[in-house]
Amino acid sequence: MKKPGFIFDLDGVIVDTAKYHYMAWKKLADELGISFTEEDNENFKGVSRKRCLEILLEMGGLSVSPEQFNGWLAEKNEDYLSYITGMDETEILPDVTKVLDYLKDRGIPMALGSASKNAKPILEKVKLLPYFDVIVDGNAVSKAKPDPEVFLIAAEKLGVGATDCVVFEDALAGIEAANTAHMTSVGIGDGSVLSAADYNFVDFTEIDFGFLDHLIAKANLVP
Ligand code: BG6
Ligand code: MG
Repeated sequence: MKKPGFIFDLDGVIVDTAKYHYMAWKKLADELGISFTEEDNENFKGVSRKRCLEILLEMGGLSVSPEQFNGWLAEKNEDYLSYITGMDETEILPDVTKVLDYLKDRGIPMALGSASKNAKPILEKVKLLPYFDVIVDGNAVSKAKPDPEVFLIAAEKLGVGATDCVVFEDALAGIEAANTAHMTSVGIGDGSVLSAADYNFVDFTEIDFGFLDHLIAKANLVP
């Protein structure tokens, strides 16, 4: 039997790190005198650290030297890392482990496909690193989502054809990346925002084993 590849985004799919990213961006925005709300933070989901800072500076009408830019990038990340130091498995989103266990028991190849450069340490903290055969993170890609690069590298490393891959994503840019790569896309979160996905769920508690079996069987329908 042909096996599909399952690819998971990290932030907002496996763990809810958006609040920590928000705290770190908010701290920097306050220092720079830029107004930054939780609503603004929505636009930062799935977006690379560098692009987030570019957007923040555009919001404040600031243009800065590359040195200053890199200094603020580093500051934001240091603050973010300090907020996530105490992170543990209690921060895994509901029923994620149930789904990963089900797939692992069936020998399904699994990858992480994330824009974050902190993906590996976070997976270590929440003790999910052993589930993944492949990690493709922000250090491994040159083009950010919605470019499909991150998922195509994951498929290649898994040794699975792109059309046999399933992607779980909470950001529209990630759904677009999966669709461009001709993968099956599963939106996790607000279905009205992620309507471009092939399937939509509010969270993993809505995903049952029958659905996972259906996704596994689908790979065998594709010649
Ligand atoms: C994405 C998050 O997964 O990673 C974004 O949704 C974040 O909010 C991006 O900006 C980059 O993360 P990091 O950890 O490399 O700053
Ligand atoms: Mg995400």
